[in-house]
Amino acid sequence: MAIRDIIKPDNPILRKKAHKVTNFGADFQKLVDDMVETMIAAPGVGLAAPQVAIPQRLIVVRLPDDEDSKQEYGDQAGVVYVVANPEIIKASREMVEGVEACLSIPGYFGKVDRHESITLRGLDRNGKEFRLKAKGWQARVFQHEIDHLDGRLYIDIASEVWREDEETESAEDQPVPSAE
Ligand code: NI
Repeated sequence: MAIRDIIKPDNPILRKKAHKVTNFGADFQKLVDDMVETMIAAPGVGLAAPQVAIPQRLIVVRLPDDEDSKQEYGDQAGVVYVVANPEIIKASREMVEGVEACLSIPGYFGKVDRHESITLRGLDRNGKEFRLKAKGWQARVFQHEIDHLDGRLYIDIASEVWREDEETESAEDQPVPSAE
């Protein structure tokens, strides 16, 4: 496994629509392993393949392994999800506002509306289809990562963006999020 470089918005790959994954061979398996390692090292809670300059529809997401997650997710805390060709097939009408950050835009935060809950369909690392329901914080991370596959960044849809070292009313109100 290897840690890959995370690209910034000056690299056009971050703004491109990514291609569907069709080959689940050795190169793809290495990409998955590298992305998980890169996400954990960053540290981040999610990473999309375009962020490591690979224009493929692949995301990795992890639930943090801390006390709060253990309470909310039980044994699922610390679990890593790998989803190829993810599609949101159901989304709650209810939207929730929350603070996001992105590993490709270090030092910034933004306030973003997301669906409170979603149902996701995708392929696992072996190409087998599965579905997943996510709500709250986890649903937010998946939506953020899937946006990356269409070249969309949270700053495009945020109602407010601020720098880490900026003292704003929003920044004071909100907990510091993990980067995605
Ligand atoms: Ni991101």
